Amino acid sequence: MGPAMSAPTSPKTFHVKSFGCQMNVYDGERMAELLAAQGMTAVDSNGSADLVVLNTCHIRERATEKVYSDIGRIAKNWDGPVGTAPMIAVAGCVAQAEGDEIMARAPSVQVVVGPQSYHHLPEMVARAAAGGRATETDMPAEAKFAALPKRRKSAPSAFLTVQEGCDKFCTYCVVPYTRGAEISRPFSDLVEEAKLLVAGGAREITLLGQNVNAWASQDDKGREIGLEALIRALAAEPDLQRIRYTTSHPNDMTEGLIEAHGEIDKLMPFLHLPVQAGSDRVLKAMNRSHSAESYLRVLERVRAVRPDIALSGDFIVGFPGETDAEFEETLQLVDAVGYAQAFSFKYSARPGTPAATMDDHVAPEIMDQRLQRLQAALQRDSLAFNLASVGKRCSVLVERKGKLPGQWLGKSPWLQSVHFTADLAIGDLVDVELIEAGPNSLSGHLL
Ligand code: SAH
Ligand code: SF4
Ligand code: F3S
Repeated sequence: MGPAMSAPTSPKTFHVKSFGCQMNVYDGERMAELLAAQGMTAVDSNGSADLVVLNTCHIRERATEKVYSDIGRIAKNWDGPVGTAPMIAVAGCVAQAEGDEIMARAPSVQVVVGPQSYHHLPEMVARAAAGGRATETDMPAEAKFAALPKRRKSAPSAFLTVQEGCDKFCTYCVVPYTRGAEISRPFSDLVEEAKLLVAGGAREITLLGQNVNAWASQDDKGREIGLEALIRALAAEPDLQRIRYTTSHPNDMTEGLIEAHGEIDKLMPFLHLPVQAGSDRVLKAMNRSHSAESYLRVLERVRAVRPDIALSGDFIVGFPGETDAEFEETLQLVDAVGYAQAFSFKYSARPGTPAATMDDHVAPEIMDQRLQRLQAALQRDSLAFNLASVGKRCSVLVERKGKLPGQWLGKSPWLQSVHFTADLAIGDLVDVELIEAGPNSLSGHLL
């Protein structure tokens, strides 16, 4: 990376690029709102932005490498005056984990801000514009959310972070270190933010948290409440049509939350419940604190109250010491569940995590083979799930235009992508009959 050139004195335009999980997407939106509240204008591409915010993810190896190559690319793409360079801010989980290293390795980066400090972004940008470099990666107990501007506009499908951080310390995972301890946002703040999102155009809200089902707060009367009470309160908003939540931990699936799936119509029939592996020995080494059996029992209880629920999961193949036989147990679990969709990853050793120093790391070619077999099984099941949906009638929330003229894209209640042709607008909630299915999407026609 070359030497730092002078940044435009005070950035007037900005571009926020988010990687990683939905919580990062939420944070990216909040940072954009903060910068807009300073009078700056959002632009779509980073070539013309005076300030580029890279909102990074640290969960797996390549994500970090991507940040460094992105930093290089931003300088190259810059189409501002010769001799100047855009201001680069690195935010998110890589900033938290490797902020000092980024400052040392990338002289063109002027701002490094962690996920719990980004409400300070405008003053940090001002300091950088005055010629300095600014780093903040504290995890203050002070409420970041209270310092953010009020929500104004929203896409039809909105994210709302209700819980942050993680106390579970799975041995492979960086999240407890990059996001800190579990905290729940207060009930009344969330109801207020949800109302603003709905007033701004949201028809669907997805409640977010690294462990969203560990959310706990007090209601207006000071009674202890869990996530199902928040979902119930939001379901009473007349203009809010759909509620989702992600990501849940199997051990925090309470009876109350499970029952909510059978009782609240606006709670969509979809559950993302990561399991990671099918072998109890591997789960123990991962510190997952659930077994394959206890996980399957949770799914059974959810299916009992909501038989049509679409199930989703996360998997890691090649955790240190995973044998062929143990991997077969993952495939058996997949067969037993029949997932509607799922994410699967090769184990990636993360610095500072206990698993990184475990013995018996699995060879890359073995990981490749296991991932291929797992993904073939998951693909087979998502196709089967989608094929079984053909002929069903359901609601679709129109989220964006499709590739073809007159085509629209939206989501079914089961979170399937559905495309269809009709005379509509973004944000419409329409009834559709599903007529054709592939592994990743369906087509429908308007009823
Ligand atoms: N809080 C959520 C999400 C964590 S990150 C949960 O508990 O599931 C999302 C997914 O990334 C995880 O579920 C896991 O499957 C994967 N992941 C996390 N760390 C990983 C690592 N070191 N290597 C490979 N995959 C990882
Ligand atoms: Fe990571 Fe485990 Fe926490 Fe999920 S529950 S964020 S995988 S430590
Ligand atoms: Fe990535 Fe941080 Fe989310 S590491 S997955 S952006 S919590």
